[in-house]
Amino acid sequence: MILENKLHITDQIELAKAEEKISKQKAKQLFDSGDIEKVEVGKFAGLAFIHAYLFADIYPFAGKIREVNIAKGNFGFARVMYLGASLKHIDAMPQSTFNQIIEKYVEMNVAHPFREGNGRATRIWLDGILKKEIRQVVDWNRVDKEEYLAAMQRSPVKDLEIKALLQQALTDQIDDRALFMKGIDVSYYYEGYSEFKTEEL
Ligand SMILES: Nc1ncnc2c1ncn2[C@@H]1O[C@H](COP(=O)(O)OP(=O)(O)O)[C@@H](O)[C@H]1O
Ligand SMILES: [Mg+2]
Repeated sequence: MILENKLHITDQIELAKAEEKISKQKAKQLFDSGDIEKVEVGKFAGLAFIHAYLFADIYPFAGKIREVNIAKGNFGFARVMYLGASLKHIDAMPQSTFNQIIEKYVEMNVAHPFREGNGRATRIWLDGILKKEIRQVVDWNRVDKEEYLAAMQRSPVKDLEIKALLQQALTDQIDDRALFMKGIDVSYYYEGYSEFKTEEL
């Protein structure tokens, strides 16, 4: 099934390419314009702002809470019925330490508030929290794709793997533009998008 999109594209491969190109341009703009500073750090509203920023030209559901239940593998994300309550709870979760921040990130992944694009938007959101609260960000280039995805699959049950994996990749280069752009490319690579380099768009 192909997602309904504003570009009126009906070919899966064509849609994936257009989505990658346009949303990576937006990610670049998010950083270069300074709009990233407007994100409400650690709140669902901040995540929705990022999601809308990246995907508004592509999907009608950009920045909007999903209205369908979704699953990946055999894991069902939060049921639509409980999503509102879950997001309120996550907003109130503490975010002072690295462990608290990752626990909040894991809960946001379990919520999976959007129809698509949760992984990419939420990793930007995570870095915003880390940056503000502990003055570090993840160097995603130091996080292996298969290890990351396995740790995220495991995270609703046990978060030790994802904590260890992200901790060893922390860096103090919180305002480094090249690191941000590279991070976007790696984040997209996790999800199967690797046609374009953000820096070159
Ligand atoms: N089985 C799973 N259990 C929990 N989380 C998962 C599972 N599979 C994938 N994820 C998480 O979901 C993200 C992908 O969600 P998705 O909405 O498709 O985002 P995107 O469109 O950016 O790829 C992955 O990056 C990972 O963090
Ligand atoms: Mg996806």
